[in-house]
Amino acid sequence: MDEIEAFCHRYGVARKNTSSLKWDALQERFGDVSLLPMWVADMEFKIPESAEQDLIERIKHGVFGYTIVPDSYYDIFFKWMLERHHAVVKKEWLRFATGVVNSFYWLVNALTEPGDSVIILTPVYYPFQNAVTDNKRNLITSELMNKEGRYEIDFADFEKKIIENQVKLFIHCSPHNPVGRVWKKSELEQLLAICAKHDVFIISDEIHQDIIREDVEFVSALAFEKYFERLFVLNSASKTFNLACLLHSHVIIPDENNRKVYDQYAKTIHQAEISVLGMVAAESCYRDGADWLKGLLNVVEYNYQLLKNILAKRAPKIFISEKEGTYLAWLDLSSYVKSAQVRDFVQKKCGLAVDYGEWFGPHTQSFIRINLATTPQNIQYAAEQIAANIV
Ligand SMILES: Cc1ncc(COP(=O)(O)O)c(C=O)c1O
Repeated sequence: MDEIEAFCHRYGVARKNTSSLKWDALQERFGDVSLLPMWVADMEFKIPESAEQDLIERIKHGVFGYTIVPDSYYDIFFKWMLERHHAVVKKEWLRFATGVVNSFYWLVNALTEPGDSVIILTPVYYPFQNAVTDNKRNLITSELMNKEGRYEIDFADFEKKIIENQVKLFIHCSPHNPVGRVWKKSELEQLLAICAKHDVFIISDEIHQDIIREDVEFVSALAFEKYFERLFVLNSASKTFNLACLLHSHVIIPDENNRKVYDQYAKTIHQAEISVLGMVAAESCYRDGADWLKGLLNVVEYNYQLLKNILAKRAPKIFISEKEGTYLAWLDLSSYVKSAQVRDFVQKKCGLAVDYGEWFGPHTQSFIRINLATTPQNIQYAAEQIAANIV
């Protein structure tokens, strides 16, 4: 607990009245400013001091003109990918974007035509659905199978849906938000093989790649050279180090033809491709942020166990999914709360703002997602509110 307290003391920060989406948009998003925000994947922790210092230095220079990416950036990022994830990335494969969501919207446009079918595994991070429907593509969902809180892929259903709908593109969440799975190599291999068999492009959104439980191994889709001709990998330092609004992310495209397709599309929608502060922060975090990340992962795991323990004692029929990765907890309230009443229960009775299961796909109205990248005090409060208000 000492380590947890020390991290929270050193990096914890009050975010109210700082134009924070999580803290200052409660009225707009939930209709109630008094809720404790446990929603949106955004933390209550400051970035590593070294990154803060590097940003200050860059800002003091006072010039924010067009910027190139220095070799040091590539070296540090490639080292991170190799040492942490055993993934080789080459300079010519890498493109920069102003966020992972932006880049999968672009890829949907670059790789498919209006009316084409795009498949996702639900429940999943809701912008996946939006990227398909906003772009007038046909949304196909294959539901993950919930086996007592541990989610698995229904490969037969996935393949059947691909065939039936002549699916052109699969958007994969790996590690998976919200269910917390870190997909095994064999699972990834099977998914990729099905996509290859039916000529389906794959976008692997790996933004949560660094938020992994200690005893679990993350495998990037970049481990599968055999499938490079259909693969696009998206990642960023932004989830790991909470840099989302510095608008800097990676699009990794191992195949030369695919790079041409992407570049051709990208130049029709954006020209200035680099956010200088995003780049400085990411380089600094990849270089010097390992200890900070270790501290964060300890807090996330501690909070997950805290939530589980409180609820196991006081509301034992709430199902909490096993969390192998991400800093998100996925809870099924169905034993105590009717689906139609989840919102009232969470907001009016418990005073919390969470992500609702219904945002993530069909058949998850009784679920909520709770953000664990916060102080144990907030987790304790949220868990006790839930426990105290169930009947
Ligand atoms: C799976 C996934 N992809 C993308 C994002 C957001 O990425 P960005 O802020 O770079 O658009 C999130 C944020 O929580 C996420 O969970």
